[in-house]
Amino acid sequence: MGKRATHLLMVVLLCISTSCSKNEFEEALGASSGQTPNTPETPENPEQPEIKSSPIAASAQRVGNAQAGYEYLTTGNYMASGVPFQAFLLGFGESTTNVLQREGDNAKLPYDYNAVLAENGVKVVGPNCMQCHASTLNGEFIMGLGSHNGDFTFDRSLNSPILEAALLNLYGSTDSPEYQAYAQFGKSIKAIGPNTITKSRGVNPADKITKVLVAHRDKDDLSWVDDPKVTIDPYTIPTDVPAWWLLKKKNAMFYHGLNRKDFGKAFIGSSLLTMSDKVKAEEVDLRVNDILAYIYSLEAPEYPYEIDQGLADTGKVLFENNCSSCHGTYGSNESYPNLLVALESIGTDPALSNDYSQASEMNDYFLDWFNTGWFAQGDAPIALKGEGGYVAPPLDGIWATAPYLHNASVPTLADVLDSKNRPTYWSRTFDDADYDSTKVGWNYKVESSQTNKNTYNTTLVGYGNEGHTFGDVLSDTERKAVLEYLKTL
Ligand code: HEC
Ligand code: HEC
Repeated sequence: MGKRATHLLMVVLLCISTSCSKNEFEEALGASSGQTPNTPETPENPEQPEIKSSPIAASAQRVGNAQAGYEYLTTGNYMASGVPFQAFLLGFGESTTNVLQREGDNAKLPYDYNAVLAENGVKVVGPNCMQCHASTLNGEFIMGLGSHNGDFTFDRSLNSPILEAALLNLYGSTDSPEYQAYAQFGKSIKAIGPNTITKSRGVNPADKITKVLVAHRDKDDLSWVDDPKVTIDPYTIPTDVPAWWLLKKKNAMFYHGLNRKDFGKAFIGSSLLTMSDKVKAEEVDLRVNDILAYIYSLEAPEYPYEIDQGLADTGKVLFENNCSSCHGTYGSNESYPNLLVALESIGTDPALSNDYSQASEMNDYFLDWFNTGWFAQGDAPIALKGEGGYVAPPLDGIWATAPYLHNASVPTLADVLDSKNRPTYWSRTFDDADYDSTKVGWNYKVESSQTNKNTYNTTLVGYGNEGHTFGDVLSDTERKAVLEYLKTL
């Protein structure tokens, strides 16, 4: 191993074992020499840097039934193993809220679990999509609002031994149908647990979860392999969770615009957690068109507080002059350009984008796995393209989706618009009613360092809050007007 490689490994290990500053990491990677951060435009330097972006072309999507999609999402068996139903109730008790007003067994479960029959016919409880894609804001439950308070800061397999001992106690042996109905879920959790830990609460490791799962599965028949087929990267790059109601405008899925073809096929990625092989995937594939129809049917929630309409009208003009070229227009004359903006032009944290656009053992394996295996077969294939850069998202319902940017690094819209005011370390209460209608986003406290998981530390790799300086050129009054307009979207 060369000297540079050894140094890199050491820094990477340091980054995992404790935490490291982004500069150390970038220096080790040699990244700081190549990329200069965006210099914000100043009045002395009126020349605008050229924006590099490319439109993403539309691709045909399958047509489905929204109501059937809702039923399938909230009661269907796209998860194929889990904790035996009785054991789940013994462990967690019956949920009394029934937020989704479901019937039968599901009425006893939290909204983010479905009661399903495992592949061997045993009734189990498995996690559903709403683990990450439904949330409560100001006391109101909103389907499709990305989870803003999930806690992935600990190894989720730590409790596996206790759970497994309990299952053996209840059902006798690992050969019992009940234990067998749990077995695949258990293996997945043990693979994921230590490999998908985030460094603060409120960010999501779904990209990394997918990587770990595909490392453990054959790309053609999707069967599980105990020893990963590729070395799993030691780091976990965090993301936010995009709101589902935005998807109907998008030509590509994900912050990095990775999936350019069939959206429904990509949903089956979640089933990799629990299925035994492609037989289940083929069954789920017949229903994902309905899930897509349901997601397409969702609308952004309306801003629930007062809006100064005069100020918002001023903001609309400013928005259309400064922001619409990337984010589109709203209201009667709606348009959306579907632009993938190059990293050098957006300047936000590059780690997530780089993870798919730069060659590495894991990335090469990942792209090949999806683009040449089962997911690329049939009439509705997936097609992943790690082009680099971030999609300029539609801003419908943007008031509800704090924190902001692809890595949830900025707590309020006011801070998105004024990059100098973004806090380096900030904490929040994770109370869904601790909402700031002045700065639009979460109430937060500026901290001087990260002392616990409730503090977001923007100096960590992948957690940076730099870039997107387009609001900086506006005056304070103009920013207030744009902020008011954003509430109306
Ligand atoms: C563990 C959390 C988690 C679960 C469970 C999950 N997702 Fe996601 N989902 C995410 C995250 C995070 C992203 C964004 C990832 C990115 O862009 O890098 C995402 C992205 C998406 C998108 C793309 C949205 C866009 O605008 O680009 C769709 C659609 C979606 N998920 C649907 C589903 C469906 C359907 C299920 C269940 C079958 C599901 N997800 C399960 C976390 C999750
Ligand atoms: C050159 C294209 C471009 C321009 C101009 C632009 N944006 Fe953006 N915007 C983006 C991209 C790309 C992202 C996603 C960046 C990321 O997540 O890393 C983004 C993200 C955002 C977000 C966060 C979205 C979220 O869900 O977290 C907001 C809010 C936003 N922009 C508002 C504005 C406003 C207001 C203006 C005008 C003052 C503006 N943008 C100008 C490209 C642009």
